[in-house]
Amino acid sequence: MKKDLLRIQDLTKTELLGILDDAQAFASDYQDWQFPERKLIANLFFEPSTRTHYSFASAEHQLNCRVENFTAAGSSVEKGESLYDTVKTFESIGFDAVVIRHKQDEYFKELKNIKIPILNAGDGKGNHPTQCLLDLLTIRQEFGRFEGIKLAVIGDVLHSRVAHSIKEAMLILGGETRFGGPLEWMDDPSQCASVDELVSWGDVVMMLRVQHERHGEKMKMSEAEYLEAYGLTKKRCAMMKPHAIIMHPAPVNRGVEIDSDLVECEKSRIFKQMENGVLVRKAVLKRAFGYSFHEGGKAS
Ligand code: CP
Repeated sequence: MKKDLLRIQDLTKTELLGILDDAQAFASDYQDWQFPERKLIANLFFEPSTRTHYSFASAEHQLNCRVENFTAAGSSVEKGESLYDTVKTFESIGFDAVVIRHKQDEYFKELKNIKIPILNAGDGKGNHPTQCLLDLLTIRQEFGRFEGIKLAVIGDVLHSRVAHSIKEAMLILGGETRFGGPLEWMDDPSQCASVDELVSWGDVVMMLRVQHERHGEKMKMSEAEYLEAYGLTKKRCAMMKPHAIIMHPAPVNRGVEIDSDLVECEKSRIFKQMENGVLVRKAVLKRAFGYSFHEGGKAS
């Protein structure tokens, strides 16, 4: 049976933990596991991406898939074809699954009649479930649990599908999430904490990218002013708990939401998150087609 992955809140706690278990297994005992039958996957990216697009592609290649990378430019989208008709076309011409990133929030509501699995690679400011899963895997590798973990999410929360998905996940898994940043970029300004307070409170300090592309107008303060007011400076990093880690979904605006020297510091897990991205994408692809590890094997 096909399994879409559209929003974190569509998953049970058991399903969430099961995907993380599979992702971790791909790092050890099942690193050579592949689909017994080759799958044909289309990566449909209507918005720019490096990490999500190419870690899906890496995961697909590792799992014995053929991969087609679709871009709207040069396709019939330029003649006005709708998202639904584009995806229905990929289904009709023999693709086994589609990975979609699109600027429209919850674009997948238009795709109810699609019979092949849909893996959401990010919808507008709504959801980013595979980013969330790689964030969760990184947290679990560090702390071994979610219950009682304090997650500080700082920055452009309002426009962040990453923030919205991790908030849902921590609700399911028993962690505590608090938010900080400019008041005008909060979902709920009444719940906005000071950045200084959050960096010393969190076990995980997750900095968010300033998402200029979703803003109606140019940011009023300079990049240096933003770093000083809301970013992770070296001074704030020194206020973090000894065991606390830094995360960021990337791409990073170095020197804006985080001091450039901190991106690869000892506390940073930013590149570890990217490594984990391939593992969770292998796990959600395996789940999409309902395979267990006992059904696959290395292709000869
Ligand atoms: N974190 C993330 O989604 O990065 P990309 O936009 O490069 O895919």
